[in-house]
Amino acid sequence: MNKRLARERESIEAALVRLLPKEGAWPVRLNRAMRYAVLGGGKRIRPVLARLAHRTAGGDPDVITEAACGLELIHTYSLVHDDLPALDDDVLRRGRATVHVEFDEPTAIMAGDALLTEGLLVLARYPVGEEWAGRRVAAVQLVAEAVSSRGMVGGQMEDLESAGQLSTDAEDGDMAGKLERIHRHKTGRLLQASVELGALLAGVDDESRRRFSGYGASLGLAFQVADDILDCTATAEELGKSPGKDDAADKLTWVTLFGLEAAQTKLGELEEEMVLLARELEGPSGVLAELAHFVVRRRN
Ligand code: IPE
Ligand code: IPE
Ligand code: MG
Ligand code: MG
Ligand code: MG
Repeated sequence: MNKRLARERESIEAALVRLLPKEGAWPVRLNRAMRYAVLGGGKRIRPVLARLAHRTAGGDPDVITEAACGLELIHTYSLVHDDLPALDDDVLRRGRATVHVEFDEPTAIMAGDALLTEGLLVLARYPVGEEWAGRRVAAVQLVAEAVSSRGMVGGQMEDLESAGQLSTDAEDGDMAGKLERIHRHKTGRLLQASVELGALLAGVDDESRRRFSGYGASLGLAFQVADDILDCTATAEELGKSPGKDDAADKLTWVTLFGLEAAQTKLGELEEEMVLLARELEGPSGVLAELAHFVVRRRN
């Protein structure tokens, strides 16, 4: 899997460089900040998911590389804004200073705005050709809905609202439901849409699309449970971001609500669930099952 991921990332990096505004072009500072945010590393898991789901659904992944990069531009916007002082107030991202530290806060806000727009534009443009027009429209709609107020941004909002709520005497049951909703939205929806995008662009039928979507939903939840665990078990060197932030900010996470051991148990259950769902899509062994293991066992 590691070799495959490295190969996948190579084609994605090359496409991102092609898609981003050129260094030195107007508006110079904004373009520099956008390039800094996007080209500074990152696992590229969302475009990888789209490409590999597309392959599993019978398509040629190289045809959708640009469209898949639209996901990465949108994801990067969400990171730049997530790190702002008004949100998580982080100074380290992908092993480097966050955009608002390296540049300034207004530039980070603008770079995030511009990356979101650029990502949607890339999805509206690629793959080129009249024969793709219908699928491009469906792709824009899928991803825009996933990051909308009913999706990622809604989850981010509830994440912010819930910080500090652990000291209230709300029922555990309510908090558990709230936590799962936050995770399925703030992180889950874009990951789910990434898997679904690959399937949609391959022209699968509704039933098959639902199965890809179900696998993506489990993977999305697992991804954030793993992120919560890593926040309190990994080092800054491993993570490329500051650890221990969730507890310090009183965030509602799988670890702060249920404890580390329960979070690890949940992650194990989700891994089994993902492998079963992957099996329905690709048979007994394939890339989607490997990706499930990667998401659960990653150290960054
Ligand atoms: C971090 O996403 C934010 C979450 C949704 C948990 P990633 O872990 O995919 O971050 P990069 O893109 O690899 O830096
Ligand atoms: C962020 O969740 C999810 C996003 C939509 C960016 P976190 O706030 O836990 O992500 P990290 O830990 O800063 O990467
Ligand atoms: Mg956050
Ligand atoms: Mg954060
Ligand atoms: Mg986190």
